[in-house]
Amino acid sequence: MNRYWTLSDKPVGAWPEADTFVLREGPIPSPGPGQALTRTIYISLDPYQWGYKRRRVEAPGAACHARTVSQVIESRMDGFAAGDLVFNTNGWAEYGLMGEGVARPSYMIPRRLDPAQGRISQAVGVLGMLGLTAYAGMVLMAEPRPGETAVVSAASGGVGQIAGQLARMRGARVVGIAGRAEKCRFVVEELGYDACVSHLSPTFAADLRAACPDGIDVYFENVGGAVFDAVLPLFNTGARMTICGLIATYGDAANTNPRAALQARGEAVFRARGVTVRDLFVGDYVEGHHDAFLREVAPWVASGQVKYREDIREGIETVPACFAEMLRGDNFGKMLVRVGEDPTV
Ligand SMILES: NC(=O)c1ccc[n+]([C@@H]2O[C@H](COP(=O)([O-])OP(=O)(O)OC[C@H]3O[C@@H](n4cnc5c(N)ncnc54)[C@H](OP(=O)(O)O)[C@@H]3O)[C@@H](O)[C@H]2O)c1
Repeated sequence: MNRYWTLSDKPVGAWPEADTFVLREGPIPSPGPGQALTRTIYISLDPYQWGYKRRRVEAPGAACHARTVSQVIESRMDGFAAGDLVFNTNGWAEYGLMGEGVARPSYMIPRRLDPAQGRISQAVGVLGMLGLTAYAGMVLMAEPRPGETAVVSAASGGVGQIAGQLARMRGARVVGIAGRAEKCRFVVEELGYDACVSHLSPTFAADLRAACPDGIDVYFENVGGAVFDAVLPLFNTGARMTICGLIATYGDAANTNPRAALQARGEAVFRARGVTVRDLFVGDYVEGHHDAFLREVAPWVASGQVKYREDIREGIETVPACFAEMLRGDNFGKMLVRVGEDPTV
């Protein structure tokens, strides 16, 4: 049998609750022509998935969407054979189909993984869309220069860890913003950021100002809300801001357009100081940049020059609880759930 999580038919509230999801059982599907059956090994839990749930993007009764690392069991799909390890989108499910007619976001293209390139779990993290997000938003869009100050929010998370390290490799002084003290320590001691301040501190805005004595030239925004408000007065003339995500607003039903609200709050400073604000959507970079990104970044990850922490939980039963933890910052590193044996470890 296949166990999988769906949304319940209760109204979806601001944040996930105990009865938001239902664990169901059904037969393991059979692959049709052009399809392959895969078993899920790792389920990636990411903030954007909450938007999918709140907007009820998934078909009623279908498994909740997620990017996954899986293994092919049976293939009728060109280019894939039984035993292959793949990136695909099985969702919150133990088994799934990929290939012809299987719904998925257009830029989440199934691909075969090479375990020699890095741990297979990293295909949904630093060697996948999260690494590419950091690379596109920091290197390609914000272009940090030697001596500049770059600030990254959610700095210990899946995207933030990488964004700051890439800025530092380009010679910038990098300041992180994170939650708990152990996360801030990790950001400085393990990732090599120059400083990290906690947004949980009552003196957060003053701490950030003290950590950025020369102002802020580059800001990689993952959070929004009060974190953005503390960054805003510190922008230097000609600063660049990449809006990657606004996780602080994802549960706020009244704030239907958080991007516009942020623009309105920042407008006077943006205009007076010539701050360039650009929006990032990783899907725009998959086709043109993923291979080049992998060639550049995979060797750094393999050699330890770029560090990357994962928070791997266990068991299909735990998925909704882990998801809720990730949304409120109780993850420490990129959140994944292992639901099947990883043959590479
Ligand atoms: N634009 C794109 O194409 C794209 C692609 C991927 C991801 N994203 C976005 O990138 C951001 C980071 O995603 P991720 O996958 O790397 O997640 P993540 O950082 O691994 O996990 C989310 C983190 O956000 C922080 N957080 C949550 N609520 C917060 C709040 N109210 N104030 C301050 N911090 C809060 C928590 O860290 P602390 O404990 O440190 O506060 C939490 O651990 C998200 O906004 C996501 O939507 C965008």
